[in-house]
Amino acid sequence: MTNDPYQSPMIEQFRYARRDKPTIRFFSGPDFGLTALGVFKDSLDIVEQEFHCTPTVMFPTGGTPQAFYRELTADSHFKWRCTLNVVQLDEYVDPETELVISKTDPRSYADELARTVYEPLRIAPRLRTTFRDNVDPKEACVSMNIALAKNCRRIDTGLYGIGPNGHLGFVEPSYKWMTEGAFVSKLAKETREANAQYCEEHGGMPTHAVTQSLGLLTKRIVRHPMVLAKENKADILLRSLRGKPTPRVPASILQDVPNVSMIVTAELLEILKTELPIKQEAYNRMEHTRHFAYIH
Ligand code: PGA
Repeated sequence: MTNDPYQSPMIEQFRYARRDKPTIRFFSGPDFGLTALGVFKDSLDIVEQEFHCTPTVMFPTGGTPQAFYRELTADSHFKWRCTLNVVQLDEYVDPETELVISKTDPRSYADELARTVYEPLRIAPRLRTTFRDNVDPKEACVSMNIALAKNCRRIDTGLYGIGPNGHLGFVEPSYKWMTEGAFVSKLAKETREANAQYCEEHGGMPTHAVTQSLGLLTKRIVRHPMVLAKENKADILLRSLRGKPTPRVPASILQDVPNVSMIVTAELLEILKTELPIKQEAYNRMEHTRHFAYIH
């Protein structure tokens, strides 16, 4: 189904406000993909109004954002086709060569995003800031940090999924916060189990990845983090939003990050309503974007 989501009065908006913490907003509607598309487009409109420039965005892979990607690529009203700047969130390390996986490998996230998003939107390779492939992972991280510093002083809208163990990108549970630039991450057992289905017939599940650190969030390089979650993430989302933030649940960092929007399914919203003191607000296509308080 492809509609202009701005015509839909059905998106509901809720706020989760706590003393001394930034407010987190939840958005939900009858169609998960269209709800995400509506909030995403509003977010880019604000960038255009505030900065008069082409937005830079970061897209995740995984099952959860696929409905959003289908709506985005089918949306004839989307005005940033061909011009959007994109940044890669993470990429596998090839378990055989121990180099960053080739962009032609079917397991590659760069390849997956190129096929499902960049090519349908006709985003030219020069507009894509990706991890270098076929190089030592540490070298790829250094190159990524240099490229980000040079090309993208900010990532306007950064989309994230949440892993079954609370990982964000491939920042896995740890005893310390990982906030200093892109780094090589050892994948947790739960992550490897959850993603094995996509990799097994193509040469095996990687044990390591290169990923952007949480510094993108804590240093406000990502100005508007948009988290997409379905009801299968209810438990880990609640663990992430309650109690004190801990690197043992990386997504709990979101409690301390301003301007977080969470796009949730109707089923997940029902669970959140019973478990968290969230309050409904009026949804207005531009109103909620006032909360994306940009600081220069
Ligand atoms: P999923 O993955 O969307 O396939 O559940 C999310 C993640 O692991 O970050």
